[in-house]
Amino acid sequence: MKKSYKIAVIPGDGTGPEVIKEGIKVLKAVSQKFGFKLDFENYDFGGERYKKTGETLPESAVEELRKFDAIYLGAIGHPDVKPGILEKGILLNLRFSLDQYINLRPVKLYPGVWTPIKDKEPKDIDFVVVRENTEGLYVGTGGYLKKGTKDEVAVQESINTRKGVERCLRYAFEVTRKKNKSKKLTLCGKTNVLTYAFDLWERAFHEIGEKDYRDVQRDYAHVDATCMWMVKNPEWFDVIVTDNMFGDIITDLGAMIQGGMGIAAGGNINPEGVSMFEPIGGSAPKYTGKNVINPLAAICAGGMMLETIGEETAGKKVEKAVMSITPKLKSLSAGKMGYSTTEVGDLVISAL
Ligand code: IPM
Ligand code: MN
Repeated sequence: MKKSYKIAVIPGDGTGPEVIKEGIKVLKAVSQKFGFKLDFENYDFGGERYKKTGETLPESAVEELRKFDAIYLGAIGHPDVKPGILEKGILLNLRFSLDQYINLRPVKLYPGVWTPIKDKEPKDIDFVVVRENTEGLYVGTGGYLKKGTKDEVAVQESINTRKGVERCLRYAFEVTRKKNKSKKLTLCGKTNVLTYAFDLWERAFHEIGEKDYRDVQRDYAHVDATCMWMVKNPEWFDVIVTDNMFGDIITDLGAMIQGGMGIAAGGNINPEGVSMFEPIGGSAPKYTGKNVINPLAAICAGGMMLETIGEETAGKKVEKAVMSITPKLKSLSAGKMGYSTTEVGDLVISAL
């Protein structure tokens, strides 16, 4: 019997549905080629539903989504909805409720893709960021005092638990080992100022590394220096592990040096549960419905999804197909690719 997987699809807002459609097209093609089956089930969570019902995620959603092998997400964010409501109500809510404690973001320059960094080639830009995805400044602890007065105080705390940090570090060590490039894991932190939070990270990093990953070289860089090196010497990096907030920031920088939001994909991973894959570019409202947005990030996210559910060869094949067509595109930016959204999807399929 053919192996089959149940995939929940949340196309979401803006250009989300357009890129997810191309992603599904590619995933179906590759699943046929490799002899497994994908059953997609659609969920309409996003800005439109919120506007109609006032609901971001219905109560039953999380329990329902737990039954899938993976979740494939387009984009969340609507111009008519106040920033924060959908992001927190849907995206962060899912990451937290499903305990997707890893945010995995490859930063890889594909052939023929323009990078703003002069004289850097695909061999120079090829690393992975492992971002902690359920703690840090994102947990929402803190509060106001005397809100709205001139004495107002706002506190927002970064929560770092030994358990949360340790499971993230272990995952990063495993990724480094498996990637087998220079087997170097860089902890990105701020030990000179955040002397509690990153002290915990640093101690755990060395304890775990010393005990269980002696084959992996341990390296450290402050977050500001990490930004500097990512631009000046990206070839120094192999795998970077960091907290939620720093990971959010450095992966946008990473997306830019790999050619932009049109190509950057990410996985919200719970290695013991249900993971969710997304292009990291957002909903791009101004390009919606024009068939001009770049679907490659969504397609790459689909490839990552296959790798995670256990169809590694098929996932790698998707990436290879994408790498074989990037030289044909004039640019990765929306409207400038020299092809439409659907044509890019077709190109990937013919490359398969
Ligand atoms: C990302 C996004 C989200 C984040 C936003 C939309 C809440 O920027 O996935 O990087 O900050 O994690
Ligand atoms: Mn971000």
